[in-house]
Amino acid sequence: MATTLRWLGHACWLVATGGKTILIDPFLNDSPTAPVKAEAVKADFVLVSHGHFDHVADAASVANRSGATVVANYEICEWLAKQGVTSTQPMNIGGAIDLPFGRVKMTIAHHSSVLPDGSGGGNPGGFVLTLPDGKIYFACDTGLFYDMKLIGAVGLDLAVLPIGDRFTMGPDDAVEAVKLLQPKRVVPSHYNTWPPIAQDTGPWAARIKAETQAEPIVVAPGGTIKL
Ligand code: NI
Ligand code: MN
Repeated sequence: MATTLRWLGHACWLVATGGKTILIDPFLNDSPTAPVKAEAVKADFVLVSHGHFDHVADAASVANRSGATVVANYEICEWLAKQGVTSTQPMNIGGAIDLPFGRVKMTIAHHSSVLPDGSGGGNPGGFVLTLPDGKIYFACDTGLFYDMKLIGAVGLDLAVLPIGDRFTMGPDDAVEAVKLLQPKRVVPSHYNTWPPIAQDTGPWAARIKAETQAEPIVVAPGGTIKL
């Protein structure tokens, strides 16, 4: 069955692939745009890109309730273990691990990563998922960086890029990111959750079409796309 991605608002994505469910950056109960509450989400794996509240908020509760394995940097795994998470796969930037659904590689991200209680959250990251039917890059929270050229060299089917500006790349830098990554398709994330990161996807999508080879895909929170 083809891999699907459902946008749960903000930077939270639910990936279904090969009978496994992977939840990225769970932020549901306090998200103004999440279409579901954390209690309604089950996952086999929870991937956390960095320590900020809007990415880690519901990680422990979803993992504990569904018995999911958390994949994150070492510091975040240790922090979640203190909150009762029993299964973790700690990793760090540049490393990759094989999991039952495919391979997960942690990439650099230019951002910060303090956990909600002030604990150190290690370095922020992004993820490349190598699945049986394609490769997906979740840039997660980051500014533009030229090494995206290297990340894209593996041949990406889909790039999930922040466009909210202020805390991450904005729409203009996300166009530059697509030029470096050269994915087949690109979907925007981390925008329109609150007014400070409000963006109009129309002009952004038009620039992607005009200036790159990638196909822009825009979904509303709750919407699903096929890989
Ligand atoms: Ni952040
Ligand atoms: Mn964020």
